[in-house]
Amino acid sequence: MSKFVTPQNIFHGKGSINELKSITEVLAIQKVYILTDPILKELDVINPIISLLEEQNVSYTISTNVVPEPPINVGNEVLSDVKGHDPDLVIGIGGGSALDLAKASAVLAGNEGSIEDYLNLSGTKELKSKGIPSVLIPTTAGTGAEITDIAVFSLEDTKDVITHKYLLADYAIVDPVLTYTLPPKVTAASGVDALTHAIEAYTSVNASPITDALAKDAMKRILGNLREAVWNPKAYDARDEMALGSLIAGMSFYNAGVAGVHGMAYPLGGLFKIPHGESNAVLLPYVYNYIWPSCLNKMADLADVFSISTNNKTNRQIVHEVIQELYNLVSDVGLPTRLSDYAIEEKDLERLTKNAVKQTRLLARSPMPLGEKEIYEIFSHAYYGEWK
Ligand SMILES: [Fe+2]
Repeated sequence: MSKFVTPQNIFHGKGSINELKSITEVLAIQKVYILTDPILKELDVINPIISLLEEQNVSYTISTNVVPEPPINVGNEVLSDVKGHDPDLVIGIGGGSALDLAKASAVLAGNEGSIEDYLNLSGTKELKSKGIPSVLIPTTAGTGAEITDIAVFSLEDTKDVITHKYLLADYAIVDPVLTYTLPPKVTAASGVDALTHAIEAYTSVNASPITDALAKDAMKRILGNLREAVWNPKAYDARDEMALGSLIAGMSFYNAGVAGVHGMAYPLGGLFKIPHGESNAVLLPYVYNYIWPSCLNKMADLADVFSISTNNKTNRQIVHEVIQELYNLVSDVGLPTRLSDYAIEEKDLERLTKNAVKQTRLLARSPMPLGEKEIYEIFSHAYYGEWK
């Protein structure tokens, strides 16, 4: 038995941003709080939203209090600002951090307490109210944050999340046009993040036939288009496919969950401030190079998705080619392929391991149980680039 959940309303496609008009009409919205990345305000990416709201005489406030991998104090600042403005709709537009801050602050504005009270690992309070309605609009492809009920916050040395069904967006709008100006490095990192969502959902112990179908579709779109989306600024078709691939990967991983790659990536973000997508990318091939015997047959079924011929090959050979392709992709899009490419020393691997083992919610979905020994070995392989 498995259950499948998504946000109730998902608009997707070029020009879908215009649906904001019907949303504000249906909900009879008068006052909007917009949370966005500073760079998007500067680059006028949010202008279409402003025009739509002004046409409808809806008043609005814009906040750019968004930082990558937001710490708890930024979450609480946004929360008190939302409460102070008392809007009847919160719009999050931007990368994963903007969307996470928007969904957490919209819900917590209708509840007692602050961000730390509701964290997964250390919180003590239960959310009682759905809070303020939210619209989530990603401008990267992508974190999948518009699909999930998870908001991630950085702690001193790792990350923690607020996760509850109330954090699901009332509306998600995925308009690929908003991703057309993304720089190569962000396109690469967020694209590999999306691929990691798909493959971790696919090999998750909680995968279902529905999440598998979505994950395979997402992988195919991402593998076929990420390189062009990164290196050719005019490859709009590739951008469109990446936006869709990211959305579909989000629907898959929201239900099946992500696992070891994300669990080990969290302390890289927490301790060394490596962006989320890059943290996943530098670990992705090494995690699968380690855990593949636990999901051998299922990974061999990815031959078609990875355009690998199966003639006269064992499943073991096919899976090694799949993993090699993961490595090639990370390398081809210009992202680091070894932990030692970052300002990390060998002695840090123990600290990273100690933090990663705490991510039990994520590690529990790995097809191969990952304890301290296994995690240290994977970090070590990733550090030295020990590939074969
Ligand atoms: Fe992710």
